[in-house]
Amino acid sequence: MRVLFVASECYPLIKTGGLADVVGALPQALGRLGAEVRVLLPNYPEVAGALGGTRVVGRFRERGGDVTLLAGEASGLDVIALDAPHLFDRPGSPYHMPDGQDWPDNHVRFATLSGIAARIGCEGVAGWRPDVVHAHDWQAGLAPFYIRLATVPCARTVFTIHNMAYQGVVPTTELDTLGIPSRFYTADGMEYWGALSLLKSGIVYSDRVTTVSPTYAQELRTGEFGMGLEGAVSARAKDFAGILNGIDDTVWNPRTDRLIPATYSPRDLSGKAADKAALQAAFGLDVDPSRPVFTVISRLAYQKGLDILLAVLPELIERGGQLVLLGSGDPDLQRAYMDAAAGHPGRVGVRIGYDESLSHLAQAGADAIIIPSRFEPCGLTQLYGLRYGTLPIVARTGGLADTVIDANDAALARNIGTGFVFYPVNADRLRFAVERAIALWYGAPEVWRRLQVNAMAQPVGWHASAERYLDLYRSLPGEGAGAPAQPEAPAEKSAAPKKPARPRAATAAPKAKPATAARKSRKSPTSGKNGG
Ligand code: ADP
Ligand code: GLC
Repeated sequence: MRVLFVASECYPLIKTGGLADVVGALPQALGRLGAEVRVLLPNYPEVAGALGGTRVVGRFRERGGDVTLLAGEASGLDVIALDAPHLFDRPGSPYHMPDGQDWPDNHVRFATLSGIAARIGCEGVAGWRPDVVHAHDWQAGLAPFYIRLATVPCARTVFTIHNMAYQGVVPTTELDTLGIPSRFYTADGMEYWGALSLLKSGIVYSDRVTTVSPTYAQELRTGEFGMGLEGAVSARAKDFAGILNGIDDTVWNPRTDRLIPATYSPRDLSGKAADKAALQAAFGLDVDPSRPVFTVISRLAYQKGLDILLAVLPELIERGGQLVLLGSGDPDLQRAYMDAAAGHPGRVGVRIGYDESLSHLAQAGADAIIIPSRFEPCGLTQLYGLRYGTLPIVARTGGLADTVIDANDAALARNIGTGFVFYPVNADRLRFAVERAIALWYGAPEVWRRLQVNAMAQPVGWHASAERYLDLYRSLPGEGAGAPAQPEAPAEKSAAPKKPARPRAATAAPKAKPATAARKSRKSPTSGKNGG
């Protein structure tokens, strides 16, 4: 089974969030099951730096500039880097300019990535042709579509939704730029509230669709979580599955972690005590083993509910707790947490920024990790918390609901609890959960210890989920010529290229049909980390 992953990030080459963790770890887990996986990534400066020695495996002339495919290896991953300096050799994050604004041509940058993925899926590269192109999130959402447009036999496609909130919304004036014939601009195509959605393209045109937890798969069919695409998801119901993310044991393992001062195991947690002292010192907290340390390691975005935690902070501190926050994002939240640290010296420590090794120290040194997300497709930090014996306090949503067992009386009686779960997501319920945790910390340390042992024993690795992905790949029918995406629509000559389509430079605005459904203007929930 040969699989091409297509994504905009991949740990350890380039990371802004959990997508990178998944794209860095799942190929290796699939590899251990016998699959041959290559990861197609943009050759950002960080990727070029991390890859070192590469060999040229393809060169193409695109409108806008020449592109080269470079094959290389990093941390056990086979990478194909799309070297297109005019698109990717830029400072800033994968999605944003140094001033934090989205790159205005993000749709062209990632459509080019998707076009190249389709080309590899149909023609192969250096004698290697994948059986499956597995595209991730809106940045890769056009790959399945371009494969559908091809008239030659191509790889099958799987599309994974990591976050419905980032939908890759593009004005219809870009149809031609992206090589999308206007007949695909329909309510059951990639039209979205009067614009185009590249995420919707992935949902509509791939052979199978997955998301990253079973609960989120259910939630996505509802208006509350589907964010306007619940209909598109429901229409794919028979081809849609939620497969839980795992964690990379070689990166996140308290027995072997080289980024923490002391390693430890469930049998001997003395290393964790040393890490706690180091964490308290690093964040300017009173170095006091008796106080419960709560941590947050997160993007500071609406999704993550960290405004709700602010409201609970006074009780957390009053009852003896400390808080360590590592994160960045919303400027108002950054300021509010900085103010909280200034107002509670020794009790609240805040680091605004992104720091991989501090995130390991915080997981290892804290006693609990708070994740009050309003929605959470899977969430990885609660999985790292479980593995590090750092009890998760989580909202009951998405993957958080699927991975943490609340330490209620019934669970305590059966000794199966692994953390604290609250619902609905509001300050009162979070406060109650934090209070329950603190009461247990001070009142029943032996129970806390048992919860830690349970948490650390959870099977949070990738093995089981990698098997599910492999089963999914195997269940796909054999390759065929790109089936017409909408057989009933009249074929347009220009729309059915022999080879997969690639984005073109805009010539004239296409005469796109107006959105079919009568839809009032509704703001699309897109902008954010992934520059939707
Ligand atoms: P999301 O992808 O929605 O941000 P996840 O929980 O899936 O949420 O993944 C977040 C990933 O990013 C984790 O690996 C987490 O440790 C990491 N992370 C988030 N914020 C920071 C930060 N400020 N510094 C270092 N790592 C961070
Ligand atoms: C997204 C989601 C997060 C998930 C990650 C990896 O960023 O917000 O919940 O864990 O993707 O799938």
